[in-house]
Amino acid sequence: MKIGFANDHSAIDMKAELIPWLEEQGYEVVNFGTDSRESTDYAIWGEKAARAVAAGEVDYGLAVCGTGLGIGLACNKVRGIRAAICSEPYTARYSRLHNNCNMLCFGARVIGVEMAKMMITEFLHTEFEGGRHARRVAMIMDIEERNTKSEDR
Ligand code: RB5
Repeated sequence: MKIGFANDHSAIDMKAELIPWLEEQGYEVVNFGTDSRESTDYAIWGEKAARAVAAGEVDYGLAVCGTGLGIGLACNKVRGIRAAICSEPYTARYSRLHNNCNMLCFGARVIGVEMAKMMITEFLHTEFEGGRHARRVAMIMDIEERNTKSEDR
């Protein structure tokens, strides 16, 4: 399975632990950056990973900034993306089970690396339940459809 990883400067140390940990488990990780500690704008990196998820170039995306909010909001602006901004494993699990999220976002200044690993494990090991949840997710995507200009489709 291929995972896209995006982050801003606040998540350099967390990424340095998470990518090898994912690779040890057999995941192929595409690092979309940044790899610099210099202050940068999370939207740049979030969009790169989100576009790769939306295009099917990677299966899922992980995106990390200080709080997870900025990068998560940026990811959710890319058509086809459902990015969950989480800080504990229960929500990470249900983001797959009920919401069919394709990106997991979190804050390197909010949670520790062990919590991040627990959330990622839940996220990557949980399948979408479908059924009534498929209808609800379709309603979310319909909002996106109705709010997308035809030239952007
Ligand atoms: C950067 O200082 C910080 O604002 C960013 O990482 C993130 O927390 C924004 O949502």
